[in-house]
Amino acid sequence: MRTNQPQTICLSDYKVPAYLVDQVDLRFELFEDGARVHSVLSVRRNPESSAGDEPLYLHGDSLVLESVALNGTPLAAGDFDDLGDALVVSSVPEAFELQVVTWIEPQNNTRLEGLYKSSGMFCTQCEAEGFRCITFYPDRPDVMARFRTRIEADRDAYPVLLSNGNPVAKGDLEGGRHYVTWEDPFPKPAYLFALVAGDLVEKKDTFTTCSGRSIDLRMYVEPRNAQKCDFALDALKRSMRWDEDVYGREYDLDIFMIVAVDDFNMGAMENKGLNIFNSSCVLASQETATDAAFQRIEAIVAHEYFHNWSGNRVTCRDWFQLSLKEGFTVFRDAQFSADMGSPTVKRIEDATLLRTAQFAEDAGPMAHPVRPASYMEISNFYTLTIYEKGAEVVRMIHNLLGESLFRQGSDLYFQRHDGQAVTTDDFVRAMEDASGRDLSQFRLWYEQAGTPALTVTDEFDEERCVYRLTVSQSVPDTPGQTGKKPQHIPFAVGLLGRDGQPLPLLFSAGSDDAPVDRVLELTEREHCFEFHGVSERPVPSLLRGFSAPVRVHYPWTREQLLFLMSHDPDGFNRWDAGQRLAVDVIQSLIVAPEAEVEPRLVDAYRSLLRNTGLDQALVAKMLQLPSEAYLIELSEQADVAAIHRAREAVLSHLATHLRDELLACYHRNSAQGDYQLTPESVARRSLRNTALGWLLHIGDQQGLVLAQEQLRSADNMTDRLGALRALVNSDFVEERTQALEGFYQAFREDPQVVELWFSVQAASVRAGQLPQITQLLEHEAFDWKNPNKVRSVIGAFASQNLAAFHNPDGSGYAFLATQVCRLDDSNPQIASRLVTPLTRWRKFAPEYRVLMKSALERVRDKDRLSGDVYEVVHKSLAD
Ligand code: TRP
Ligand code: ZN
Repeated sequence: MRTNQPQTICLSDYKVPAYLVDQVDLRFELFEDGARVHSVLSVRRNPESSAGDEPLYLHGDSLVLESVALNGTPLAAGDFDDLGDALVVSSVPEAFELQVVTWIEPQNNTRLEGLYKSSGMFCTQCEAEGFRCITFYPDRPDVMARFRTRIEADRDAYPVLLSNGNPVAKGDLEGGRHYVTWEDPFPKPAYLFALVAGDLVEKKDTFTTCSGRSIDLRMYVEPRNAQKCDFALDALKRSMRWDEDVYGREYDLDIFMIVAVDDFNMGAMENKGLNIFNSSCVLASQETATDAAFQRIEAIVAHEYFHNWSGNRVTCRDWFQLSLKEGFTVFRDAQFSADMGSPTVKRIEDATLLRTAQFAEDAGPMAHPVRPASYMEISNFYTLTIYEKGAEVVRMIHNLLGESLFRQGSDLYFQRHDGQAVTTDDFVRAMEDASGRDLSQFRLWYEQAGTPALTVTDEFDEERCVYRLTVSQSVPDTPGQTGKKPQHIPFAVGLLGRDGQPLPLLFSAGSDDAPVDRVLELTEREHCFEFHGVSERPVPSLLRGFSAPVRVHYPWTREQLLFLMSHDPDGFNRWDAGQRLAVDVIQSLIVAPEAEVEPRLVDAYRSLLRNTGLDQALVAKMLQLPSEAYLIELSEQADVAAIHRAREAVLSHLATHLRDELLACYHRNSAQGDYQLTPESVARRSLRNTALGWLLHIGDQQGLVLAQEQLRSADNMTDRLGALRALVNSDFVEERTQALEGFYQAFREDPQVVELWFSVQAASVRAGQLPQITQLLEHEAFDWKNPNKVRSVIGAFASQNLAAFHNPDGSGYAFLATQVCRLDDSNPQIASRLVTPLTRWRKFAPEYRVLMKSALERVRDKDRLSGDVYEVVHKSLAD
C-alpha cells in the first residue's frame, strides 16, 4: 500500500510567485541513451511578492542534477537542496543568473510527460506540469519568460529540429551532429514549451492574414503519413480566417507548425507556434478516416489554433483557472464547427456528450466546479466539467449579452489582459464591463458543482386566456458542497398551438411586443411566468437549443412528445422530444419486459425514415436511439442487463416493423458521387449505415448481402467501417469473422485504422465479450505503451460495451482493475482516466455495486500507486 499520500492543493492558498524569470536559455544535447539539458535562467525577485527572503524554489521530477551555478559560480553542496521533486537555493541576490545542467532519459519515459520518444522521434508534452521533467524550473503558469532553445542531435537520425517561435541559427557540429536555435519573442509559461526532433517530412502552405502578413504554415509527419496532411492544413487555414472574422484575432508569429505523434496522452497541445497532435486527431484521408474523424480533426485543429489567443497570449494564473482557457476555447471551436457544418447537429452532439458524460461526472465522486477549489493531481482535472460545462458557461454569457456585446467583452478581455496570466473572474469582469450587465449571481456557475435541475409545471386558464409556467430550480449536493444557492439560468422557451403554429409570448394582456420564443432568466428558487392572450392549451417547448446545462423535468405525455417531434420549429427540441419519447418507451420495457412496444413510436420512426423533406442531417440524428450510457445516467439504481435487454428489444421491434422503409432508405441514400464532407453527404452516409445496422441487428439476409457488398466496394472509410460495424454487431458469426480478418489484412499498416478495428470489436456486445477482449490484448498490433491502442480496446470495452463490462459475474470489473494496475506503473495519466467507469459504482443496482466497489478496492491496495490513481480511487471510495 502507498504510504505517502499526495498533497491537496487549495485555491485559497494561492500566492504570487516569489521570483520571476525573464529569460530562459536552453541547450538540449539529444543522444540515444539520454539527453543533457543546459538551462540558464535570468531570475529576479517579484516586486509584487510580500515574501521576504524566501529561498528560490524550482520544481523537478525524475531529474538527475549534474551541476548548478549562480552567476557562473558553481554552488557547493551546502548552498542548495536537491529534494528530488524540487531544487531549493537558499540565499540568492535580487537578480541573478542560475545555470543548471540535468540529465534525463527520454527513451525510458513511458509517462509521456516532459521529453519522451515516440516512434523514434523526440517530442514533448509539458502541460500541465511536464516541464519539471526536463529541468528544474518554477513550473507554474504565472511565471512567464522568453525562451531561446538550441537543439543538438545526430544529423541523419534527426534532420528536423523544432521548438517554439522562429529559427534564428543553425549549423553543423562535430561527429555528424547538427543544431538549430529557436527564439520565441512572446513570454510564456513553461507548459507551452515544446521541442521536436526527428526524421520527418515537411508539408508547406501559407496564409495571408487580415493585415496582409504572410504566415508560413508547416506540418511535420513521418514519411508514411505524407498523404494524410491536406485536410488538417485546410482546416488550419479555415480556423485562422474564422478567428479573424468572428473574433478579430490575427496570428502573431511568422511561422505556425503542426506535428503528428503516435504516442500522446490526450488529443493535442497548443504549444506556442508548435502545436503537437495525437496522430489520430490530425492525420486523415478519405480511405482511412471516417466522417466523424474528419469533423473531430477540424474541431481539434481549430481548438489548438484558437488557444493562441485564448490560452497563450492570455493565459491562466494557476491551474484552478484551467477553464478560463479550455471552456472559452471549446466554446470558440464549437461556434466554428457550427459555422462549418450543421449548427443543429453540432448542438445535438455537444448536448449528448454533456448529458451523458458530464452530468454523470457532476453527479459522481469526482464532481467539481468549473473553477475547482482544490485538487491533488492536476492531470485529473482535464475533465468534461472544465472543458464542456466550462464552454456552456461561456455560451450562456454569449446568449445573455447577445452577439455584439459578447464580442465587445471578448475584445476588452484580450486587450486588457494581453501578456498576462489571469483568472476566470477577470474574464467575467471584462464581459460585465463591456456590457454593463451584472453577472455576480452568474458567477455561481464557476463556483458550485452539480447539475441544476428544473422542475416545470403549467396551468391553463381558459377563461382569462392565460398560460402559466412555474419553474423551480435546485442544485444538488456534491462532495464537500451542500446547501447551494439558486443560479442565474437562461431558459429559452416557446409555445405551440394545436395546429403546430408558434404562439406569441405576451407577458401582459394587450402588449404588442410578441416574440415567438423568449429567453426567461431564472434567478430565484421558483418563478412563475404568465403568458397572456393564449386561446388554447399550448404544448411548451422548453430549454430550446439546450440554452443551459441543466436537467428539465416536465410531465410530457407521449402525445405531446410526438407532437413536438414533428412540429417544433426548434430543431434541437424536435430531436430532444424524440429522445424523450424513446427513453420513455425503453423505460417502460425495463419495468415490464413483456409489454408491447408503443406503436406510435414505430409510426414516428416510419415517418422519419420516409421524410425526405426534413433536414436529413437532423433525421439521421433523430434515428439514433438513446445510448445505454444515457439510459444508465437517467436511472437511479441502474440494472444494466435490464436496460440493455429493453433497448435491444425496442431496436429489434423497430427494425422488424420498418424493414421495407429501412431498405428503401438504404437505397435512396446509396447514390454514389464524389466523396464530400458537406452536412448533406455526411447525413446520407449516416442514414444509410444506420439502416444497414438495424437490418443486420435482426439478422436480415438482404441486409447481409448489402453489407458485404458495401464492405467490398466502399471508396471511403465511413462506408467501409459502417458495413464492418453492422456485421460485427450481427449474429452472422462466420461472416463477421471473415469481414474482420479481411479488413485487418487490408489496413494492418495503418495505426489509425487498426485503432478503429480494435474499438469496433471492443465496443460490440456480440464480438467483444471478455475472452475476445483478452485476445485483442495479445494481438500483434496491440501496444501497451501506446495510449490510443489502450483506449481503443480497454477504454472502448469499459465505456461502450456496457452489457459485457457489467457482466453480473463481475469479470469485467476485475479485468479493468487488473489493466489499471498494470498501466499505473507505466502511464499514470492513462491509468487514472481508464479507471473512471468503476468510480460510478453508486449509480448501479446493489448486485453490481458490491462487485465494482471491490474491484476499486483492489486498485486502491496496489503497491506504489501513482498520485493520479490514488486521488480518483480514494475520492470515489470515500463516504
Ligand atoms: N491543452 C490541451 C488542449 O486542451 C490539453 C492537453 C494536451 C493536456 N495534452 C495534455 C492536458 C496532457 C493534460 C496532459 O488542447
Ligand atoms: Zn484546449
